Parts: sequence; structure tokens; C-alpha cells
Amino acid sequence: MLAKLYDWVDERLDITPMWRDLADHEVPEHVNPAYHFSAFVYCFGGLTFFTIVIQILSGMFLTMYYVPDISRAWDSVFYLQNKVAYGQIVRGMHHWGASVTIVMVFLHTLRVFFTGAYKKPRELNWVVGVLLFFVILGLGFTGYLLPWDMKALFATKVGMQIAASVPFIGGWIQTLLQGSDIVGAQTLARFFAIHVFFLPAVLLGLLAAHFIMIRRQGISGPL
Ligand code: HEM
Repeated sequence: MLAKLYDWVDERLDITPMWRDLADHEVPEHVNPAYHFSAFVYCFGGLTFFTIVIQILSGMFLTMYYVPDISRAWDSVFYLQNKVAYGQIVRGMHHWGASVTIVMVFLHTLRVFFTGAYKKPRELNWVVGVLLFFVILGLGFTGYLLPWDMKALFATKVGMQIAASVPFIGGWIQTLLQGSDIVGAQTLARFFAIHVFFLPAVLLGLLAAHFIMIRRQGISGPL
């Protein structure tokens, strides 16, 4: 039944070469931990991607309950955490997953640096990687404010002062992010939009570029 359906679609769209291209691609020996245990460092990029998938999935469920309004944000998180079935688990995954993602992206960057994989011809992918790094940090910064508790509020105030201290354009960055003179209602609305729409869109675009380049250039090495 399924085979027939597959043949029907394949006859019309010729889908076999698409997945065969991925499925038949051989993993070089020097990046395969089954051959050399130390090759596990080459898994860090894939593991970063895995944590990002978890962040996206858990985040999608969180937005079903979260209310981006200063009078209700904290209550909505409290409700999700204490009343909603599996809410505590989903929130916990997103909360701890954020830190794991940052640790993994850092380890991946170290691997790329110490194996010299940023050198010609992969300079452009290193640049895309640096942008990815900032997007991940931006997601962490904007997400931190969303529970709207004291820790979130004061951490964001400190973050805003750091942003404001950037030479020449600091004040402009602060106004753009904060939306008013204080960290308040406008800030929460902006951080929510940036966290849920703007940065994930940029992230997906950059990841597509990252993976297309890896596919075209192949993995670097062996050393
Ligand atoms: C958002 C996070 C990122 C994800 C999901 C990701 C994913 C990956 C994956 C799956 C690979 C294949 C090889 C491997 O796993 O090590 C890779 C390679 C690479 N990544 Fe990333 N990456 C990310 C961030 C970065 C950052 C921050 C940098 C550098 C600043 C970077 C630079 C590179 C380069 C240059 C390669 C090619 C390495 C080679 O050919 O040996 N990536 N990335």
C-alpha cells in the first residue's frame, strides 16, 4: 500500500534522487567516531542542530500558553509550569535546552577553530557561523525576559545598559530594543516578537546557508 503510494508520487515528482543523494552520501572515516573515538568532536555541529530542533518544538508548545503582556506574562508561565499537563517538562526542556545549545555551539566553534576548518575554502561558512552564534545569543537574551520575574527584569536592565554603552549607536540600539524609556510593556512585546519571529526566521535562513555550504564543500580534513 505504502510502496504503491510512493511509486505514484515518485512517477510524478521523481523524488528518489532527492533522498538518495542524502542517504548514499558517505561519512568520511576521519569524522566517524566508530573508527576513531576522538572523531566525536565532529558531532558537535549536528548535536547543536539537534538541540535547536528541541528548542523550536518545545517553544512552539510554550507559545500556546504564554501571554506577552506585562500584567499576565508571569501568571501565564506560572499556570503553564504548575497546572498544565507536562507543562513543567516542556518548560524545563526549553529553559535548560537554551543553555545546552549555547554550550554546544561553543564546543562546535572550538572544534572548527582547532581543526583549522575556517581556512580556505570555508571562510564564508565561518562568517555564517559567527552570525549564527550571535543569533543564538540573541535568542537567549530575548527569551530571558519573557517570564517577566525580577531576575528577568533586572538582567535585561543590565543587558540594556551594556547595549547602550556601544560607541555612537548605543542609544539607538537601546531605543530600538526597549521601545520606551524604561524596560516595560513595549520591551516585552518587542522581545517576544524578536524571540518568536525575527530571530528564528534569521536562524533558519542562516542554517540553510550553513548546511548548503557544508554539502558543497564537504567536511574538512583529515588533519
Ligand atoms: C547555530 C548553530 C550551528 C549549527 C547547528 C551548526 C551545524 C554544523 C554542522 C552539522 C556541521 C558539520 C560538521 C560538524 O558537525 O562539525 C558544521 C560545520 C561547520 N560549521 Fe557550524 N553550526 C553552527 C554554528 C557555527 C559557528 C558558530 C561556527 C563558527 C563561528 C560554525 C562554523 C562551521 C564551519 C567553518 C564548518 C565546516 C567545518 C568543516 O568542514 O570541518 N558553525 N556546522
